[in-house]
Amino acid sequence: MSVVVVMGAQWGDEGKGKFVDLLAAQAEVVVRATGGANAGHTVWANGQQYKLHQIPSGILYPGTLCLIGHGVVLDPAKLLQEMEYLRGKGVDLSNLRISAGAHVVFPYHIRLDEAEEDRKGANKIGTTRRGIGPAYMDKFARVGIRLIDLLDKDEFLPKLAAQVEAKNQLLDRVYGMPGFTVEEIAGPYLEYAEQLRPFVANTVELVNDAIDTGKNVLFEGAQGHLLDIDFGTYPYVTASHPIAAGAIIGAGVGPTRINKVVGVVKAYTSRVGEGPFPTELMDATGEVIREKGHEYGTTTGRPRRIGWLDLVMVRFACRVSGITDLAVPHLDTLAKTGLKTLKVCVGYRLPDGTVTKEFPVGLKALAQVTPVYEELENWAWSESLSKAQKLEELPEGAQRYVKLIEDYTGVPVSILGIGSERTEAIYRDTMFGA
Ligand code: IMO
Ligand code: MG
Repeated sequence: MSVVVVMGAQWGDEGKGKFVDLLAAQAEVVVRATGGANAGHTVWANGQQYKLHQIPSGILYPGTLCLIGHGVVLDPAKLLQEMEYLRGKGVDLSNLRISAGAHVVFPYHIRLDEAEEDRKGANKIGTTRRGIGPAYMDKFARVGIRLIDLLDKDEFLPKLAAQVEAKNQLLDRVYGMPGFTVEEIAGPYLEYAEQLRPFVANTVELVNDAIDTGKNVLFEGAQGHLLDIDFGTYPYVTASHPIAAGAIIGAGVGPTRINKVVGVVKAYTSRVGEGPFPTELMDATGEVIREKGHEYGTTTGRPRRIGWLDLVMVRFACRVSGITDLAVPHLDTLAKTGLKTLKVCVGYRLPDGTVTKEFPVGLKALAQVTPVYEELENWAWSESLSKAQKLEELPEGAQRYVKLIEDYTGVPVSILGIGSERTEAIYRDTMFGA
C-alpha cells in the first residue's frame, strides 16, 4: 500500500490529469485537497476526452472513492454542472464525497475577482476569474462560509446577510460596481445545498481510515509549485498551496503518512497569466510548441505562454516538496514540433555575471536573470513514440533529455508520457509498490 501525492512542478497545466488518471487505476481513494474551479485537468480515456475542474479524476474509475477535502474552495454551481457533464458521459458519481469544511465560493467572490483584476489593469495577475482569491481571503479573514453552514439554513442566512452587506459596500465604494441581494444568492445556493447534501461526508475520517487499512491513496494536486502562495512567483500566484504540503493540510493527514511525491514536469514550460518567465519563447518556436501541445487553457481557453524547460525552477520544486519521482509528459509534443535542437535552462545568470541554480525570491531579481542553456542537438526523430514500453526503446535524443533532467534534479524520472491516451506512457518504477 502507498500514499502518493501528484503535484505540478511548474506553473500548472503540466499534464497532471494524465498521470493522476494513470495512477488512479491502482488507487482506491483519490483526493483533491487544494484550489478550486481554477484547475482544469484533461484526461483521455477510451478515446474520450474528459475535462475536470473540481472533481478528482479518479471518478473515471468505477468503485474508486473520490474525496474533495476541506482545503478546496468549492463553487457549488460549477460543481453541479461538472457532475451533470460527467453523468452525461455515463460516469457514476456515487463514490464522490465532499468535506463539509470546504469553503464556498459565492457570486460576490467572482465579481470581486473580476473587479480587482480590472482595477489593476496592466498589473493584473491574470487570474482565472473564478473567485478563488477572494474566497480564500474570506477564509483567512475568518468570515468565510463553509459547506457545513450552507447545509444549515439557520446558520447560513445570517452569515450570508452579513457577507452580502460587507461585499456590497466593497463593490460599491471601492469598485463602483453593483452588489447582490441576499435573496438572489440564498435561493439558488439553498438548492445547491440540497443537491450536494447526499455527497457530504467526514473526508478526514475517510482518508485516514483508508490509510490505516492499507489502501492505496492518491492526492491529485492542482496548479503547480510556481503558483504556490508562499513559494511561487508572488504576487502572480494562486491563493492556495499547490506544493505537496498543501495535500496534507487540505485533506487532514499527517506528513508521516505520505510515501511518495510525484512531481509532474512538462517537457517544456508553460504558464497562463502574467509575471516574469525567464525561458519564455516569443517566437515561431514557441508558436509551434503551443500548436502541437494544444496549449490553450482548459478553464479559460487562453493561449498559454510557452518556453523551454527550466530546470532551475524544477529543482526548486523538488526541494520544497521532497519530490521522490518525476513524471514527464509531452515528450511526444516536442517530437512533433520537428525542432532539431532543444534548449534546457540549467542556470540563471545574474546581472553581475555569476550563474546560480537558486530560484530568486523576488520578481525583480527573476526578471533580471538570463537563462543559461544546455543545447541538445540532433534531438529530433520521426518515428512515433507511442508504442514504446521502455526508455531504452525511445530515440537516443529522448533518452538524453530524460538523463539531463535526472542528473540535474537528482530525482528519477519514473513515468514518461508519450501520447495523450492512457496506454501511451512508460513506467520505470511503480508508485504503489508491486
Ligand atoms: P491546473 O490545476 C495553470 C493561475 C492563473 C493565474 C494565477 C492566479 O489546471 O494546473 P487564480 O484564478 O487561481 O486566482 O489565478 O494562477 N492558475 C493556473 N494556471 N493551471 C492551473 O490549474 C491554474 N490555476 C490557477 O492563470 O496566473
Ligand atoms: Mg489546467
